[in-house]
Amino acid sequence: MAAMFRHKGRDLMPSRVIDIVDPVIPLPIDELYPQKMPLKVEIGSGNGRFMVSRAATHPDVNYLAIERMLGRVRKLDRRATHLGLGNIRVLRLEAFYALYYLLPHHGVKTVYVFFPDPWPKRRHNSRRLFSPLFLDALWHCLEVGGCVQVATDHLAYFAQIKNHLSADERFKEIPAMERTTDEQTDFEMLFRGQGLPIGQCAFQSLPVKKEVPLVPMTLPPEMLPRAQVGSVD
Ligand SMILES: C[S@@+](CC[C@H](N)C(=O)[O-])C[C@H]1O[C@@H](n2cnc3c(N)ncnc32)[C@H](O)[C@@H]1O
Repeated sequence: MAAMFRHKGRDLMPSRVIDIVDPVIPLPIDELYPQKMPLKVEIGSGNGRFMVSRAATHPDVNYLAIERMLGRVRKLDRRATHLGLGNIRVLRLEAFYALYYLLPHHGVKTVYVFFPDPWPKRRHNSRRLFSPLFLDALWHCLEVGGCVQVATDHLAYFAQIKNHLSADERFKEIPAMERTTDEQTDFEMLFRGQGLPIGQCAFQSLPVKKEVPLVPMTLPPEMLPRAQVGSVD
């Protein structure tokens, strides 16, 4: 068994945060939710505004939030618990690691990436989430015909993301989704409030003639699973 739920010690309230028991075994997704339904994943879900709103209006979908900041994970977990949303689970983890090792192979219908950290300084650009290796992990976890939805206010990063995806024959551009006001993320509301332009795009994953498996790789320590919800950030 690769994962289990954590129960908060003090009040024994069930939490939606997944405890990673074995970091190299894919998550037993079907055991984590009450019902087997299509899986949609949000990377860098922040406080969970999009996911909570979406999960409430789409009870026929299972949602997984991946977020590495403890405070934000807790907030999302509290919101989902308060609303009794049984179709949300949360992973406190580096997203690349989660996609590479823990998500089911071709088992995710949609991956949402809204306002990923832009790392605007040139010397930090290499820390950006979207890279050729990330696209490998993304394509392997998406169902064929599944899609990635992206939005960002950082237009240079947006152009880079579109270039990476357009140049990759495993993806094809499709119209980006519309989000209701309730579904806008915290960062989105902030940037829209300032009148900033937002870049949005979506790409569908396509079949390939011969699939190249992901090669096992050694990840840097900062990408390995961190202590879970009970720890200090
Ligand atoms: C700029 S914030 C945007 C949060 C939210 N998507 C929104 O639009 O309000 C980026 C979020 O992604 C998280 N994040 C960035 N890189 C991540 C990664 N590689 N794995 C998991 N979370 C990540 C950060 O902790 C942060 O909460």
